[in-house]
Order: sequence, then structure tokens, then C-alpha cells
Amino acid sequence: MKGLLLAGGHGTRLRPLTFTGNKHLLPIANKPILFYGLENLARAGIREVGIILGPIKEGIVEAVGDGARFGLKVTYIHQPEPLGIAHAILIAEDFLRGEPFVVYLGDNLLKKGIGSFVKLFEEKQSDCVIGVTPTKEPQRFGVVEMENGRVVRLVEKPKQPRSNLALVGVYVFNDSVFEACRRIRPSWRGELEITDAIQTLIDMKKRVDVNFVEGWWKDTGKPEDLLEANQLVLQELEPCTKGSVEEGVVVTGNVVIGEGTVVRKESTIRGPVVIGRDCEIGPNVYIGPYTSIGDRTRIVGAEIENSIIMNDVVIECNRRIVDSIIGNHTTIIEHEKNRPRGFKFILGERTFASI
Ligand code: DAU
Repeated sequence: MKGLLLAGGHGTRLRPLTFTGNKHLLPIANKPILFYGLENLARAGIREVGIILGPIKEGIVEAVGDGARFGLKVTYIHQPEPLGIAHAILIAEDFLRGEPFVVYLGDNLLKKGIGSFVKLFEEKQSDCVIGVTPTKEPQRFGVVEMENGRVVRLVEKPKQPRSNLALVGVYVFNDSVFEACRRIRPSWRGELEITDAIQTLIDMKKRVDVNFVEGWWKDTGKPEDLLEANQLVLQELEPCTKGSVEEGVVVTGNVVIGEGTVVRKESTIRGPVVIGRDCEIGPNVYIGPYTSIGDRTRIVGAEIENSIIMNDVVIECNRRIVDSIIGNHTTIIEHEKNRPRGFKFILGERTFASI
């Protein structure tokens, strides 16, 4: 079985974070989102993966290379415009044709991986396996309607959903999907929709089976999704200290401190927290639960909680920063003394803020 990992698209809903790079490289618990997908594919026994690259491809090839570090052989496939998931499948037809394959949307995270999809496909000898999970916001996703255990209808982002079952961004197909993708026409948003292609498979009387996904699933389409995904992943953090922690620093809960990082006096770190390499944290810093801090970042005097702070960031201020996402090379300094308040930021790369 092969894999097709989608890393194209414009990432408009994640601006300004995606003005300077591909959204699939944004870090969740200090690891690019895309890596979770590659690891899930490798863990399911897949060895050959095509990665769909769109107009913003900077950094992906550098980060993933030939895939060997994931135990994969990676082929890059260019999709000039994000014309839909079914369009991406057609573009990759030459690479995929001849054996079943998993399509994995690169912005999706699944706690339990994708082994259950592959198993079901093989057990049932399906033409297609889709994953579903109940959601409170079905209008944000493809929605699956079922009767007597079978799928009867799929609708992309319905205004009035007729079920609460969201279509998860992992699908297993055989060659019959190419014919289905060719039969469909662009939707109102100008895309060849995967939901329409799967509906066409049902209409073609192909066997579509449903995997009820266990454990959490997260589509990281919007900034608040990134923070939630970060929380979910950090919940399972294994503590590990490679850097140094000065005397008197309070560290509680599960905390990872990377090599070369120093945590200076009068600081408190309350996990789950991950801190990358070569950072300088403190003196007088509080890092609260569900915070990820990248590499080479310096934080002095601040209180930070439930946030994603990326690489090469400088935060030097006596302020409280919560529920924030702060891009690479950003600097936040104190403008006026003695006005302690909380701040909430979504800052793209190379921002300068004086607060
Ligand atoms: O996350 C699950 C949802 O993903 C499903 O419930 C929907 O049925 C499905 O259409 C999709 O909806 P989104 O609107 O969230 O898709 P998005 O445009 O965010 O694209 C999903 C991923 O695929 C993302 O990693 C970008 C990539 N992509 C997307 C398109 C449209 C491509 O590589 N090429 C494309 O042409």
C-alpha cells in the first residue's frame, strides 16, 4: 500500500502565521504538523509516500528530504493550484495507480494513527474506507449520513448538517477512485471535492466502509485548532531534561527541556511544557501548562501559558501572555513599566511588539 500526503493549499485561515511559510510546517509540541502524518503512515506499514506540494512549498523538501528518517521513500508531486483533494488524487494518479493507497490530509492529527483504516480496508476488501467521528461543529467538515450501518450521503460543509459525523482527513482507496474523481465537477468553492468523489463511488455501487475513529482527532485549520492540538499532544508528553536547571527553579508536571537550554533562577515551569534546544529561560519567568517553546528562544520576566512560541523568539517583559501563537524571529519587549496585564497574540514571523 502507498500513501499520499497532502501538503498543498494556501493556508489562508492560518494567516498571518502562513504568510511566510507552509502551514504544515507549523509546530505542534515542537514538531511540524506534517511529521505526525508521515509517522502515522510509516507506523501503518506504508513505505512509499507521495507528498503533494502546492504554491507555498518552501521548507517542506528541506525538512522531509527523501523520507529516510521516517523509514519512507518520498516522491514530491506538484499541484500548481489547490483545486481540491480529488484534484490532488488525479495529479498523483501515475504515482498511485496499481495498488491501494491511503490519502492523508497533512493538517490532520489523530491520536491513534491510521492502522485501523488499513486493517478495515483489508478485512472488508473495501473499495474505500473513510473515517468518521462525532463533532459539535459539523458545518466545518465533510458530513456523513448513515443508514443501517452504511453510508448513504456525504455533503461538504453543509449549512444545515443532517448528522454530526465529521469526515476525518484520512481515506483508503483502490484504483476505482480515479474514475470517480474524473466524473465529478468543481463545487461552489471551485474545488474537486473528495466528498463528491466518495459519493460517486457509492453511486457506482462500490463498497465504502466506515471506520469510527477512536481517540482524539484534530483538523488544524484555524489558530485556535493549533493551540488545542498542542494541548492534546502535550497531554502525552514524556518528561526529559537534557539542559540545565539552576538551583531554586520549580519544575512540576511533565516537562521536556532540550539540550543546551538553561532555566535560570526564580523561575517556575509547570508542565506539560516542552522547551527546545539552546534556549534561555529566566530569570523570573513562569511557564504554565500547555506551552511549547522552540529552539534558541530567550524569555525573561514574563508569564506564559497555553501558548506556542516558535524558534529564535525574544520575550523580555514583565507581562502575562496567554493562548498565543508567536512566530519565528519575533521580539516582544516592554514599552511601559508597571502595567501588568494579560496579552493574547497571533504573531507571524519577524514581528516586533513593544507592550
Ligand atoms: O480535515 C477534514 C476535512 O478536510 C474534511 O472533513 C473535508 O471533507 C475535506 O474537504 C477537508 O476540508 P478542509 O476545508 O479542511 O480542507 P482544506 O482545504 O483545509 O485542505 C485539507 C488539506 O489538504 C490541507 O492540508 C491542504 C491540503 N490540500 C487541500 C486542497 C484543497 C492540498 O494539498 N491540495 C488541495 O487542492
